[in-house]
Amino acid sequence: MWAALLLTTAALAGTGWWRPIAMRLSAERDRRRILRCAEDSGGALSKHLPRVRCRRRPSGELVTDLVLRSGTSRADVERLLPRLAVALRAFDCWLDETNQRSDRVRVGATFVDHLATESGFVPGPGTRTSRVSIDGIVLGRDRRGAEVRVHLLGRHLLLGGLPGSGKSSAMSLTIDQLLSDPATCVYCLDPKMVEFQSWAGRLARLAGPDLSEALPVVREVQALMNRRFEELAATGRRQVSAGDSLVVLVVDELPFYLAKSAGPGVVEFTESLRDVAARGRAAGVIIVASAQRPTVDAIPAAVRDMFEVRLAFRCSSPDASDAILGRGWASRGFDASKLVPGRPGLGYLLYEGAAPTAVRTFLPRRTDVPAAEGGDGR
Ligand SMILES: Nc1ncnc2c1ncn2[C@@H]1O[C@H](COP(=O)(O)OP(=O)(O)OP(=O)(O)O)[C@@H](O)[C@H]1O
Ligand SMILES: [Mg+2]
Repeated sequence: MWAALLLTTAALAGTGWWRPIAMRLSAERDRRRILRCAEDSGGALSKHLPRVRCRRRPSGELVTDLVLRSGTSRADVERLLPRLAVALRAFDCWLDETNQRSDRVRVGATFVDHLATESGFVPGPGTRTSRVSIDGIVLGRDRRGAEVRVHLLGRHLLLGGLPGSGKSSAMSLTIDQLLSDPATCVYCLDPKMVEFQSWAGRLARLAGPDLSEALPVVREVQALMNRRFEELAATGRRQVSAGDSLVVLVVDELPFYLAKSAGPGVVEFTESLRDVAARGRAAGVIIVASAQRPTVDAIPAAVRDMFEVRLAFRCSSPDASDAILGRGWASRGFDASKLVPGRPGLGYLLYEGAAPTAVRTFLPRRTDVPAAEGGDGR
């Protein structure tokens, strides 16, 4: 009889019947913790306790809906967030900004350090068929686990950081998504000749360290840009818009091509690149470039300042971090030299003028493994 009981218990355990109950119990425990935290806060919320409803998502994330009483406001909840995170033993707590009504507030909490989690990129159903100029590029996750998407139409992207910090991987991730839109035209320059080989057959052009091969590539992109401007002028348009195709020039280790040691043609290369950086955005011609330390000695300011989106991986000093993100960010708390070591792909993303956000890039899909071995795999 004991054996039968044991077998039945084991079988039931396997079905996971207990999971919803466990989630309800933990949500109830979270609700009590939130109310106790509000009571102990000593502020307006402690006198007029909100109505609290909690639920756990299957991912483990906690969603809490608060109905505020009069005498309290969203700002009171915002002030309570750091204490709430401690009370819930959460990794991070935040206000859901999409909530419109002033007396309804939604608070999210995560119990996982998403920035410590390595994950591969899984293309969503929309990303393979839609225009990349509309969908943008997914770079990775933020600390709350939300996907970080960047729109490259009209924006050049600069990636910087120490060797091994994750620049080329993030570029491969970008190329993969760019090529998922058949209308996108991608040109690559790679001084190491090893980073983008797996895309070679699908790129418009791929050149290595030899400037006599790299210069014609930039000139071709420049000529394409000029043609696009002529077409725009002919149709009375001033610039391309979402839905138009992108032309992307990807340059790994950009300072390599701009150094005097690169050989004859470096002046012409720098001039063509500066022109594409300055005028290309309006024509949908975008540069994605990387540099270990993009100081003005390495990349002329006339080129570097044109990069609107910056991704700073771990670097060696606050100055190096500022060289990527822009002067002053390190002293305001966004110092990529303080990022946790040993986590390639962890960086600060500066996008759309807002303060930088910490992101962990996704690992690019592996394209070198044949499909039979799980090769479209990650
Ligand atoms: N988001 C990530 N998560 C986990 N591992 C990563 C991530 N990004 C990169 N890596 C790993 O880190 C290592 C170095 O990455 P990568 O070659 O992209 O660095 P890099 O900055 O281009 O270096 P270098 O300046 O030497 O070219 C690789 O083995 C890669 O698999
Ligand atoms: Mg690299």
